[in-house]
Amino acid sequence: MERYLDAAFRGKMRLRADFNNMMKSKIGAHGIEEADFIAAELDAAKENMAKKRGAMKWRELPHNQDAIAADIIETARCVREEFDDFVVLGIGGSALGPIAVQQALNHLHYNDLPAAKRGGPRLFVEDNVDPERMEALFDVIDIGKTCFNVVTKSGGTSETMAQLLIICDALKKRGHSPEKHIIATTDEKKGNLIIIAKQLGLKTFFVPDGVGGRFSELCPVGLLAAAVCGIDIRELLAGAAYMDEICGEGDIWQNPAYLAGAMMVLMMRRGKNISVMMPYADSLKFMSDWYAQLWAESLGKRYSLNGEEVFTGQTPVKALGVTDQHSQVQLYAEGPFDKVTTFLTVGEYRAKVDIPEGFADIKDVSFLCGHTMNELIQAEERATEYALLKAGRPSWTLTLPEVNAFTVGQLLYFFEVMTAFAGELLGINTFDQPGVEEGKNATYALLGKPGFDEKKRELDSAPANEARYVV
Ligand code: PA5
Repeated sequence: MERYLDAAFRGKMRLRADFNNMMKSKIGAHGIEEADFIAAELDAAKENMAKKRGAMKWRELPHNQDAIAADIIETARCVREEFDDFVVLGIGGSALGPIAVQQALNHLHYNDLPAAKRGGPRLFVEDNVDPERMEALFDVIDIGKTCFNVVTKSGGTSETMAQLLIICDALKKRGHSPEKHIIATTDEKKGNLIIIAKQLGLKTFFVPDGVGGRFSELCPVGLLAAAVCGIDIRELLAGAAYMDEICGEGDIWQNPAYLAGAMMVLMMRRGKNISVMMPYADSLKFMSDWYAQLWAESLGKRYSLNGEEVFTGQTPVKALGVTDQHSQVQLYAEGPFDKVTTFLTVGEYRAKVDIPEGFADIKDVSFLCGHTMNELIQAEERATEYALLKAGRPSWTLTLPEVNAFTVGQLLYFFEVMTAFAGELLGINTFDQPGVEEGKNATYALLGKPGFDEKKRELDSAPANEARYVV
């Protein structure tokens, strides 16, 4: 039996959210009280979440990917046998999930391990169009032994299409056929990638209809790269399904994701415009990047669903414990009262490192001897929580009993539900991103995409830069 089916394992691996340090009773004036929760507003948000569940297709991913997971696992097996490197070409929601999950669940120096220890290809996620980076990639891969996974939900994102053009050209020039080296992940019916995939005869996975980029990690967008790198994607999905079960609870005080969403919104209303995410684990470092996109792009909205100007959102800031204690915590403890910190902590790390005896005559060093690095990082996390508490700064802690596919699946799903619930409370469309359109359209106009002549004229007629402001 798979361990994730075992009730004892599931209970032991359940994520715990502790909101004590958000409360007035703990941190004073900047905290919240139970009386601040508006029952009618919460009930309406809960009702909307239930009503919209059918439309939020990402909510079903933990439950409906079985057949697809089988195809992914089989494809991954072939890729692992045939290729030395696996390169994801994608951006935003098509890249941040794969990066976060790989960092969480594989060796922290995965790409540097000898092939035999890795057991699968190296993973590169190319989420930029910096020409230096593209050229650097060609310096470290052998294109004849590389599988490329081009991922774009819309099937037309310029950055990803540019990468695809470069890779197709490079493959052809070196005598390799694209269909042997490229797997496409995109919408089944819409966009240009599906047309290209059909033309080239590429193996294709689909992003289910109604699953937006930043909510797509638990479909082929994220699952293929994970499976290729040996991650147990069924356990990842089982973790997400378990969190769905937990988040099915109607009572907000029993529903961790709803409670987190509600607390964050209450904090936003108190001027806490910055959401710091601070994992105390290198393995969770890139969860902050994934969360930053999810939280920023989903909640940063000008208009409410009623069309009123609301200018909502909370700026995500990424930090890493303990590293950023020596860089940012000074600001968090003594700077403006504009932040809420989310700590991600780990019960049991996957390694234990003893701090050996030494320098017995230097007491300020030797007090560390006999402890473990595990004790040190956990003490530092507790100490930072305490320091913020003492400074009256709100924070909350989400603990993973250990970092594994089951807990990471829970974590991803938790933040997705929390974001959707916060969006309901804010009365906005959580799932669109109209604010990025202007920049996209201007890029198209500058590069001469058909249909953007008017935008080009608009850009050309913008007031010229004044020389005196360029120093
Ligand atoms: O969340 C989103 O929808 C976006 O951030 C997209 O993921 C990003 O713009 C990339 O889009 P696409 O997957 O269509 O290439």
